[in-house]
Amino acid sequence: MSHADDPEGTRRDFLYYATGGAGVVVAGAAVWPLVNQMNPSADVQALSSIRVDVSGVEPGTQLTVKWLGKPVFIRRRTPEEIEAAREVDVSELPDPNSENENLANAADASDANRALSEDGEWLVMIGVCTHLGCVPLGDAGDFGGWFCPCHGSHYDTAGRIRKGPAPKNLLVPVAAFDGESTLVLG
Ligand code: FES
Repeated sequence: MSHADDPEGTRRDFLYYATGGAGVVVAGAAVWPLVNQMNPSADVQALSSIRVDVSGVEPGTQLTVKWLGKPVFIRRRTPEEIEAAREVDVSELPDPNSENENLANAADASDANRALSEDGEWLVMIGVCTHLGCVPLGDAGDFGGWFCPCHGSHYDTAGRIRKGPAPKNLLVPVAAFDGESTLVLG
């Protein structure tokens, strides 16, 4: 049997390419070495704009990439997460501002003004607590979003501060999709 007819061999080749392809990012921790690899000088500050392949991010999970020295949370939300975020009355939020660098300063913190995509599926935020700068934990806290264990700040599924000492919603950085699965930060 030739190599091409050998399903075992084909499968091995596929797995090799799938795990070896630059830009294929499947899990949170995996992207850190990847970004460093793309930037061997380790001069992270020079990367004012980066491209991230988000095709491997399943609904209900998130990817964390390092950008300009900070973690960025890229979350693909479930319909339940989106619904929970959209049910909230904006006037009751501690920080009523969208804190979204893609929008005008006066935009309110409605879920539509926080999410990156119109369908609300993608949420991209700087993963730095607005209290004193710890990195909040995902899938945690009283509002099903993020929880900062340093002093107990709870963020909801749109990354808005709901309870605790943090004064502001998690910042949404300049970001846009280029095609279906490539996210450009900066
Ligand atoms: S740094 Fe997050 S609650 Fe203080």
